[in-house]
Amino acid sequence: MILSIESSCDDSSIAITEIETNKLIYHKKISQELQHSVYGGVVPELAARLHVEALPKILEECKEYFPKLKAIAVTNAPGLSVTLMEGVTMAKALSISLNLPLIAVNHLKGHIYSLFIEKDEVFPMTILLVSGGHTQIIEAKSLTNMNLIATTLDDSFGESFDKVAKMMNLGYPGGPIVQEKGLKGDEDRFDFPVPLRQSPNIEFSYSGLKNAVRLEVEKLEKDGLKEEYICDICASFEKTAVAHIMQKIKKLFKTKIPKNLAIVGGASANIRLRTQLEQLCKKSNTKLFLSELKYCSDNAAMIGRVAVEQYKQNDFTTIEEIDIQTRIKEF
Ligand code: KG4
Ligand code: ZN
Repeated sequence: MILSIESSCDDSSIAITEIETNKLIYHKKISQELQHSVYGGVVPELAARLHVEALPKILEECKEYFPKLKAIAVTNAPGLSVTLMEGVTMAKALSISLNLPLIAVNHLKGHIYSLFIEKDEVFPMTILLVSGGHTQIIEAKSLTNMNLIATTLDDSFGESFDKVAKMMNLGYPGGPIVQEKGLKGDEDRFDFPVPLRQSPNIEFSYSGLKNAVRLEVEKLEKDGLKEEYICDICASFEKTAVAHIMQKIKKLFKTKIPKNLAIVGGASANIRLRTQLEQLCKKSNTKLFLSELKYCSDNAAMIGRVAVEQYKQNDFTTIEEIDIQTRIKEF
């Protein structure tokens, strides 16, 4: 079995995965959303402090599996340096005390492998990764052959929901809140511009849309922001944010219709995005892969699933070599 640790942002999570069968033997996650909600976003130092409390508590429950462990896996990039450090420090300590090899896992590959928890891998796959930190399209042929083909020029899809929620003091994370409010609103009330509509490139941008929403909120705030307007803004914003992704995905389909398409990452829980991609894939005869909702946001089960493949490929690191990276440019 492999014990995996995830602490790249605001979720403390540990999983135990069986190497032979991919079976998830144990999985627990403690989220910090409530603690960060008052600040309208993740406060890195607070997140790190909460990991220091949560990770040992979860680890305590895993002790019975220690004799069966063959490796310790941990997310080392990308993420917040102070929070990654907590997971990596725990992984190093376990590696030394249990005399086990270390596996360093890329968090983005983790999101991709959330599709394969307790399942076999499926490749080739075109992947839309939408999270708080990333909006990317990746062509994946295998775990070690992944190419980034599109990314965002500024904010990410999930982040734009967080910022829109923050503008209207709706709490954190913004995605589920904005989606919920939007269901009660009129999506045609505000005409926000779809980003990069004229650009022939397949790339994303959310800062212009965010600013357009900010201007509207500031206008409406003068007379007090009524609940009705909040819901209309959420609906109109979400419609535009999803339209942007759909336009670029359709552009991609024009160059080549993929056999397999997946959406992964915390923001892949967005119902409007899922529905529209389902419709497009149906029309194009593309098989659509979605992770289970419980594995969309950050978790250690997805890190453990990648680690199983790295273990089989002898892809280990050492306590001296393992490094933390806040950003990565390539896979
Ligand atoms: O993957 P994740 O848990 O963390 C990162 O690696 O960033 O993604 C969290 C992000 C947050 O920005 C959150 O607002 C967004 O995913 N999110 C959503 C939805 N649910 C979560 N965004 C849009 N619609 C949703 N339903
Ligand atoms: Zn993530």
